[in-house]
Amino acid sequence: MNDETEYVSNAFGQIFGHDPAVTVRAPGRVNLLGEHVDYNEGWVLPCAIDRAVWLAAAPNNRGLARIHALDMQQQGQFALADFRPPRGHKTDQAWLNYPAGVAWAMQEAGHTLTGIDVVFTSTVPIGAGVSSSAAVEAAFILAWEALSGLSLSTLDKARLGQRSENGFMGVQSGIMDQYASLHGAENQLILLDCRSLTHELIPFPAGNSIVVADSGIRRQLAHSEYNTRRQQCEQAVTLLQAYIPGLRALRDLTLEEYQRYAHRLPAAVRRRARHVVEECQRVLAGAEALRQGDLTTFGQAVNQSHISCRDLYEISILELDVLAATAWEVPGCYGARLTGAGFGGCIIAIANNTAVPALSQALTTAYRAEFGREPQLFTAQVAAGAAATSAIHKT
Ligand code: GLA
Repeated sequence: MNDETEYVSNAFGQIFGHDPAVTVRAPGRVNLLGEHVDYNEGWVLPCAIDRAVWLAAAPNNRGLARIHALDMQQQGQFALADFRPPRGHKTDQAWLNYPAGVAWAMQEAGHTLTGIDVVFTSTVPIGAGVSSSAAVEAAFILAWEALSGLSLSTLDKARLGQRSENGFMGVQSGIMDQYASLHGAENQLILLDCRSLTHELIPFPAGNSIVVADSGIRRQLAHSEYNTRRQQCEQAVTLLQAYIPGLRALRDLTLEEYQRYAHRLPAAVRRRARHVVEECQRVLAGAEALRQGDLTTFGQAVNQSHISCRDLYEISILELDVLAATAWEVPGCYGARLTGAGFGGCIIAIANNTAVPALSQALTTAYRAEFGREPQLFTAQVAAGAAATSAIHKT
């Protein structure tokens, strides 16, 4: 048993007076390339990381979810019967909406859920663009699956997590985060085709690191801005269908078609469409560079992605721009960009292991000089996806 599993198992025992029946680990993710492309049915390149939600659970026969959030020292509960959205919990218990959303999505899909007693903790920074919510969703889906006697495919579990975001939380997000949390593999990047919902694993090049620098800026306005971006992409498709019959998603738009018809689009919509068209190309070219072991080319695609997120998709903030631009100057750093939805959160930098100390120093120094405080830095290991384990009973 590792430390976190032991921690949640012991806490469970102290709170509920018996051993848990199952423990779950569900990771956060970083996205290396392909931002705001998943809901345009394009390609993305995320990976699960060694920051995760850890949960211990057992069934109860009360039809209740009774949940202790150890990090917040809070407990909350809801009844599973007649569970319908919207069911927003009061804001000091906003975390409870995530398990509630999962319960709603699973029941909406026709699954019968048992009541559960749960304790959980998380090492995924919250609201930082590294999918703390997808990790919580995946953890609760796995707990309910195990304890309700269900057997769901990994893809179905990812879809349920996305469904709870879309239908319960009101964020029209794509499937990338839940997919990555559930399909992660140690030292492997996930090249996901968001139309076919199939993926290829590409090894993360040995001898290199993913350095994450958290700006500490939390994603205010993220939900409304996110949904606006998605609408603008849909608007682009609708307007372009007049010239390209049968166009289904921006993934299908070629660069030539974009150039030919861009003037038909309102200026902001045009910028969004261009980002998506070029970002799709960057993911495919970047993945090919990785297969060839060409980190320099890959890193250039990563840098271009940041510039496009900043200038065309307009989801960056000054703090992320300073962090990325600082990393670009460090020898041995191949590329750096914001990761996730944007409007705050983290950048990731891909660097040779030998360059990590200098990179960390440069990021800290530049950030302090510009903003008077330090970014939170960590090196993310590329980790396995979410998994449940039958709890080992103490004798
Ligand atoms: C959030 C969403 C994802 C994806 C990213 C942007 O993380 O949950 O579906 O759209 O933003 O790439």
